[in-house]
Amino acid sequence: MRIVLLGAPGSGKGTQSQRLIERFHIPQISTGDLLRAAVAHGTPLGLQAKEAMAAGRLVADEIVLGMIRERLGEPDTRDGFILDGFPRNIAQARALDEMLAQVDQPLETVVQMNVDYSELSRRIAGRRTCTDCGKVVNLLTSPPETLEHERCPKTGQSHRLYQRPDDNEATVAERLRVYEAQTRPLIDYYRDQGLLRSIDAEGDVAVVSARLEQALKG
Ligand code: AP5
Ligand code: MG
Repeated sequence: MRIVLLGAPGSGKGTQSQRLIERFHIPQISTGDLLRAAVAHGTPLGLQAKEAMAAGRLVADEIVLGMIRERLGEPDTRDGFILDGFPRNIAQARALDEMLAQVDQPLETVVQMNVDYSELSRRIAGRRTCTDCGKVVNLLTSPPETLEHERCPKTGQSHRLYQRPDDNEATVAERLRVYEAQTRPLIDYYRDQGLLRSIDAEGDVAVVSARLEQALKG
């Protein structure tokens, strides 16, 4: 199963990827997560990516493509993968097609996750991540008092939650603008290839997962 989850910031790509991993045992490849790890470790790549990410702009294609090429070369992708947040523009989509054609493993499905703008902003404002285990939660659906009792699998203590630095109002506005200008054209690109499925990605997380699974069945 080789799939792309396509959707605006906050549409639930990361949340649904986590659920697909459990269901289908294929890895999630999130360029956002890979870039955040590079920034956190202060690698040369991370230093190059940091400014664009903080501003809500796309990181240069050659950096992202290098990361993806390396990641897709790892053995755990042999039975498939979930691409989350990649590709993000037409140039990346073309490069991905070429990479996958070389190994005769073309994409099978691209799922477009539709969420209203007001809901995207609401979700992003409430998003928090555990510093230790990486679990993503939302303060709107899981208020702090309910999370206090949950144990982090890494530390055995309460989750230590932080807010992503690019989840501030100004950067979110830019990320949404970049999505419209550069990423939305991928909808037509994949529709023309006959790979596109669209789902309503609002509502309960489990309900969205059910719609996603249905879309993946074709
Ligand atoms: P990236 O990390 O990919 O961010 P994004 O695309 O802006 O997407 P998000 O991670 O914000 O949203 P999501 O769809 O994963 O939503 P989530 O599941 O967390 O990219 C960050 C930056 O890195 C970019 O701006 C760019 O600079 C750079 N970058 C990354 N990839 C790149 C590329 N390919 N090329 C160039 N640059 C790149 O959900 C959001 C919240 O909502 C959570 O709190 C969650 O708990 C909650 N939620 C989820 N589903 C539901 C639901 N059904 N109901 C209620 N709440 C829900
Ligand atoms: Mg994400």
